[in-house]
Amino acid sequence: KNLGVLASGRGSNLQSIMDACAAGQIPARVAVVISDKKDAYALERARCAGIPAVHVDLSNFTCKAEYEKEIVNILQKHGVDLVCLAGYMRLVGYTLLAAYPNRVMNIHPALLPAFPGLHAQEQAWRYGVKYSGCTVHFVDEGMDTGPVIMQAVVPVYDDDTADTLADRILEQEHRIYPEAIKLYCLNRLEIKGRKVYISKD
Ligand code: GRF
Repeated sequence: KNLGVLASGRGSNLQSIMDACAAGQIPARVAVVISDKKDAYALERARCAGIPAVHVDLSNFTCKAEYEKEIVNILQKHGVDLVCLAGYMRLVGYTLLAAYPNRVMNIHPALLPAFPGLHAQEQAWRYGVKYSGCTVHFVDEGMDTGPVIMQAVVPVYDDDTADTLADRILEQEHRIYPEAIKLYCLNRLEIKGRKVYISKD
């Protein structure tokens, strides 16, 4: 399968996906990386791996639908089957979702539905939970509300800071995101309403 990755920042999840593809752990390749931020390190990582890296500047478009139409054009041009959000800091709208129904995934650094939105690790740390983690989910029009595919749990320790907790969570992100993508590529994910079932090998 061909993956299209949308990223706004440093791209460590993108890296884990590219690495898993290169190692043959996922029967897929990253066909294109798109960023809304010109300076996103994710674009640099893609270029280093010889993968097309495209900056799409929202300010060149009159509305979000036009901007997303351009993203869909690029994804389609590269034959993308599955769109993976990896630190993409925008809410995905109808245009992209309609072009890729049930084919957009995201990784969120908390155990959804707890702590959606920005700075989830800090939200969890401040709240004082004893466990947090990360969630891979299909994307719908809400903010981190789509059907859950996979989650990983990490403990929160007394001497943690929001940063040390974020590091512990990130390690798990890099493990479960490629795993979820692999299951998708092997056609082992079945969505029934809110539930995602993982079929046996
Ligand atoms: C990750 O924590 C991810 O869960 C969240 O944004 C962060 C992106 O990090 N959606 P990176 O750009 O993949 O390093």
